[in-house]
Amino acid sequence: MADKNVSFPTAEYCVTFPRNFLWGAATAAYQIEGAWNEDGKGESIWDRFSHTEGTVRNSDTGDVACDHYHRLDEDIKIMKEIGIRAYRFSISWSRIFPDGHGLVNLAGLDFYNRLVDKLLAARIQPFATLYHWDLPQKLQEIGGWTNREVSSHFADYAAVLSKHLGDRVQNWITINEPWVIANIGHKTGEHAPGIKDEKMALQVAHHLLLAHGKATQALRADNSNTKVGIALDMRPTAPASDAPEDIEAATKTWSREARWYMDPLFKAYYPPDIWTEYGSKVPVLKPRDMSVISQNLDFLGINYYTRTVVSDSGVVSKIPGSQYTEMNWEVTPESFCRLLVDISREYNLPPIYITENGAAFNDRISPTGEIEDEDRLSYLKNHLIQARVAMEDGVNLQGYFVWSLLDNFEWALGYEKRFGIVHVDFDTLKRTIKKSGHWYSSAIKNFGFPSAKDEHEQIASAAAQRSERR
Ligand code: FCB
Repeated sequence: MADKNVSFPTAEYCVTFPRNFLWGAATAAYQIEGAWNEDGKGESIWDRFSHTEGTVRNSDTGDVACDHYHRLDEDIKIMKEIGIRAYRFSISWSRIFPDGHGLVNLAGLDFYNRLVDKLLAARIQPFATLYHWDLPQKLQEIGGWTNREVSSHFADYAAVLSKHLGDRVQNWITINEPWVIANIGHKTGEHAPGIKDEKMALQVAHHLLLAHGKATQALRADNSNTKVGIALDMRPTAPASDAPEDIEAATKTWSREARWYMDPLFKAYYPPDIWTEYGSKVPVLKPRDMSVISQNLDFLGINYYTRTVVSDSGVVSKIPGSQYTEMNWEVTPESFCRLLVDISREYNLPPIYITENGAAFNDRISPTGEIEDEDRLSYLKNHLIQARVAMEDGVNLQGYFVWSLLDNFEWALGYEKRFGIVHVDFDTLKRTIKKSGHWYSSAIKNFGFPSAKDEHEQIASAAAQRSERR
């Protein structure tokens, strides 16, 4: 049974969620599927990158990953056992179009067809992400995201998926984390395609936003029922001190990282101060681009892990007294709440889903094989509490997806960093639900979880303050 180890809910204080709150878990194709060259799949930039010496820690690759491609039934059974109501997965573009455009590979489509059918049979809502970083290598050869044409190929790819899956998949996420794609893929070069050029990165960011806009139109063209969103990574930025230089540095970082995407999407312009600062590096735009980018969305996906503390001299890497995950990311649940409240006040937002939230910690395996990941459990619990406080403060939050369902290929860091609520033994590929997974399962079944008195009161006081403001 999934809820062993956890006894609920006779606690004196509980944090409870609305009955229709959507409890989910997320993954991405390259991180879990494996089968990198099977059934007609084309090569992607992550295949090429991980097969290149010196790019990924321990020379790990996604060739096999969690072998999800061949273990669909087992993985859906695990999802069902945990009780998740929604599953966010991504579609590998080069499974559908081995060359990025042109001929469709029916075997690739069939895999996602089966996935969707099996999810629905298990009463799990599919949330499909069209692009989680694995561009077909053939498109990289014509310039990848630096080439405007790729945004049109993306729209064609979206149209094919909408035609084949749109009768069963209602919720679509166009692009996952454009900031990471542009900056880590094209400025620092730590991710595929490994380019280091800031001007190119800014053009890539623009083409990603444009691709998002065009795909939104394509997805909606066939299906009036379709709901479309984008998943943005957001790190609220805090100044290291009250000194005006630090505050200014924090404001600038937030504008470069978050506003550069939020303003075009929700206000139809790039932040003017940063545009000026970038000078000759700014992207080339065409006249109608901003209106294509800023169409109304059905939801906004937010991926939240940590905050950034900045001073005049750069990012502060360690805050004394703070807990850090294995990624060296500070654990900051209160900043999560602040972020949700602040963006909901500044922008006119559609409903929000947390499309990723979770933590990498080293798991302790007990002599009897239980995976004791107390740190991850507390991380999830504390972030869910802050999400709930934000809801009481007026944030229109509809659901939450844990990153991740399974331990998986953590990009340039390979298999060392484990984010799963389900443990994967990468030698045998055996899956074991972790303690955090059992806890999450109980939370889903009980629409909440026991809490300390002060946590419970924090939510009550957010509710009271909100009704006073009304
Ligand atoms: C996000 C990515 C996701 C995973 C988590 C830890 O930036 O979207 O694929 O790697 O970080």
